[in-house]
Amino acid sequence: MSFLSSQKPLSEPQISEFFDGCPVPAFAIDSNHLITHWNKACEHILGIPAAQMVGTKNQWKPFYLYERPVLADLIVAGSLENVVGAYYHDDDKFRSSVVIPGAVEAEKFFPHLGGEGRWLYFSAAPLRSRSGEIVGAIEVLQDVTAQKSAELDLRRMHQDLELLVVKRTHELAAANEKMEEDLRRRTAAEAELVRRNVELTEVNRKLSMAQEQLMQSEKLASIGQLAAGVAHEINNPIGYIFSNFSTLETYIESLLKILNAYEKLDRNRDSQEACEELNAAREDVEIDYLKEDIPALMSESREGITRVRKIVQDLKDFSRTDTALEWQWANLHQGIDSTLNIVNNEIKYKADIVKNYGDLPDVECLPSQINQVVMNLVVNAAHAIDGRRGKISITTKVVDKDIQIEIEDTGGGIAPENVSRIFDPFFTTKPVGQGTGLGLSLSYGIMQKHHGSINVRSVLGQGTTFTLRLPIKHESQEEQS
Ligand SMILES: Nc1ncnc2c1ncn2[C@@H]1O[C@H](COP(=O)(O)OP(=O)(O)O)[C@@H](O)[C@H]1O
Ligand SMILES: [Mg+2]
Repeated sequence: MSFLSSQKPLSEPQISEFFDGCPVPAFAIDSNHLITHWNKACEHILGIPAAQMVGTKNQWKPFYLYERPVLADLIVAGSLENVVGAYYHDDDKFRSSVVIPGAVEAEKFFPHLGGEGRWLYFSAAPLRSRSGEIVGAIEVLQDVTAQKSAELDLRRMHQDLELLVVKRTHELAAANEKMEEDLRRRTAAEAELVRRNVELTEVNRKLSMAQEQLMQSEKLASIGQLAAGVAHEINNPIGYIFSNFSTLETYIESLLKILNAYEKLDRNRDSQEACEELNAAREDVEIDYLKEDIPALMSESREGITRVRKIVQDLKDFSRTDTALEWQWANLHQGIDSTLNIVNNEIKYKADIVKNYGDLPDVECLPSQINQVVMNLVVNAAHAIDGRRGKISITTKVVDKDIQIEIEDTGGGIAPENVSRIFDPFFTTKPVGQGTGLGLSLSYGIMQKHHGSINVRSVLGQGTTFTLRLPIKHESQEEQS
């Protein structure tokens, strides 16, 4: 750059004046690297007066601890490209000026300046003669510490921010992973739950089936047990009805014989022979005895037939066709009576039945199942009575919204250690073939199904009382919930 205007070159004092008036710290050197100008701003910022500098080659001194070329020296030496790498590094941001050809810029930190050190920005340009030859160089500097520290702060904040972003990204990724893991676990747990549920439903179904089968087998077992008794009960009346029938047959034969004789006499009223035949027939048959005996036989037979009919009816009642499990309003006393009738043969030789029936309303239940429970309890009671003739009392009453049936016996009682086990399936103290151990466990199940209960009180050697509680109105599962 041509520092001096072509028209009217400035004189040396004018140039010095211009230099000193410039508010930017600046200095100039000549082709021998000697300082020609060192302005007031330079004096001020670097603290060295121009008098000490002008005419020396000490331009490095305010900045460096050892002698080395500054930018202006490199320009004057014309060795910029070759040596710049030795003195300026990446951090120093050495670069060519985009505005002035041949000018260069750099910035550096000087730790020993201004107490805490200073960032200085240098910009140097060649001074050329009119012919274009480099005759010196001018260098200006700027204190950019404030910008630099702001820039550094900004960079640090930027770095901090980036670090934070990285950290947050990591945290987010971790949280995300954890969430995904949680989700995986939850999905797995849900699948497991569904599987368990299916398993449970299956087990439940099998259990219901097994219970249904148990119930059926206990029913068959008790029917088997009862069959003999029922056969006996029926056989007895059938026996005497049959024998009455034979007697009545001979009576009718005799009566018909007399009737024949009468008819003969009627056709020929004067026949002596017919008259004798009639007398003989009447003498043969003790007509007076027949007159008494026939009604007696008839009524006895009728009574027998009625008993058979009653037993058949009770059997039907007992095993009512509510196997489809239909809840019905039933008269429990009728059910108990039918049941007693059927098991009569099991009881009548061992105990008297005492009925203390209260005033019961109809009860919504599965009647044949309740009959089965009563039968189990009554037969168990009869089995418990050994030796001396005993008593089985059946007491019914309404308690709150329930009805209560007590079946009390004067049997041998239950050993205390067995009381907690009698409702277990297959628990029996009876010899093989006599007890299945299922009666009470099934009774328990039936009472549960009715939302009722079955309880026991027993004194060894004195007797046992079973108490059934049954809601009058059945509430289905849905109604309950
Ligand atoms: N009234 C009772 N008196 C004494 N013991 C009883 C009575 N009822 C039940 N038990 C005891 O409970 C056991 C289980 O009864 P249960 O389940 O009906 O089966 P099982 O009658 O086939 O033995 C009986 O074997 C008996 O020991
Ligand atoms: Mg039993």
